[in-house]
Amino acid sequence: MPVIAVINRKGGSGKSTLATQLAGSLANRGFQVMLGDVDRQQSSLAWLRRRAAQPLAKNAAIAGSAFGSQSVMRPSAGITHVVLDTPGGLHGFDLARVAMSADAILMPVSDSVFDRESALECHAELLTLPRVAAGRCKVAIVGMRVDARTKGAARLEAWALEHGLAYVGSLRESQVYTRCAEQGLSLFDVPAAKVEADLSQWRPLLDWVDATWAATARLEATSRAAIPVSAPSIAPQARRRTLVRAPLPVPVAPKAPVSEFRPSRDSVRPPRVERFGWLLGVFRSFS
Ligand SMILES: Nc1ncnc2c1ncn2[C@@H]1O[C@H](COP(=O)(O)OP(=O)(O)O)[C@@H](O)[C@H]1O
Ligand SMILES: [Mg+2]
Repeated sequence: MPVIAVINRKGGSGKSTLATQLAGSLANRGFQVMLGDVDRQQSSLAWLRRRAAQPLAKNAAIAGSAFGSQSVMRPSAGITHVVLDTPGGLHGFDLARVAMSADAILMPVSDSVFDRESALECHAELLTLPRVAAGRCKVAIVGMRVDARTKGAARLEAWALEHGLAYVGSLRESQVYTRCAEQGLSLFDVPAAKVEADLSQWRPLLDWVDATWAATARLEATSRAAIPVSAPSIAPQARRRTLVRAPLPVPVAPKAPVSEFRPSRDSVRPPRVERFGWLLGVFRSFS
């Protein structure tokens, strides 16, 4: 099941906006989506509560799940895609825990030097994690709240290129996002004609998400195919079947009945004199 986490250490960088919009887009494509909220503020879960009051088509429903630093992600049966919204300041063990369960990480970054510096630090920490370093969890930057009248998007793209970061596009500063947040909606729930310009910005982002998940699925299929082995000793008619070798049976000692007589500890131990006799001998040799 594909899991995508939205991460950035900076608060207010657009994580909840990106996570809720992405969940809305997947739900509108007919996937069974779970929006997991790792943030104590639980903005995404509040968005889901507002969404529940909207007269939306049934297939746009999104399941919610809150989990703190102690709990483990357990998507309910039927969930096909998971989106994780995370808190600002995520680092160390908590960052590793999220990255360990993710196939892809999107990092929203605005066109500000502070945001870019913070994103670089977070990206560097992510690269120290084996799953990310091995390419099993891909990380990409999304330009967020980019002022369409400036060269912000081009600046962000050039910065990402300079630092070797994957850049998947940018979303402009738009009141649509603020209104969607207030109403528990996503761009994908409203008539496309009303949000055409914003929807077009999502295309490269969603293409990247789809390509990443397809790559993960291929990788998982390859590693699953590598486990089965052919058993050379099986009958010729069954020889073409692949089998997973069963583990060898481990001999289990029969359990003694509860009522069985057990000798007391003292009766199985040698007398004290025997156990410490050698020590007494040493003392005696000095006396
Ligand atoms: N592209 C955007 N255009 C306009 N407002 C945005 C955009 N992205 C985020 N915002 C607004 O910025 C504020 C912070 O975004 P939020 O997603 O809550 O950030 P975070 O979860 O990282 O703290 C919210 O009020 C949100 O509506
Ligand atoms: Mg948030």
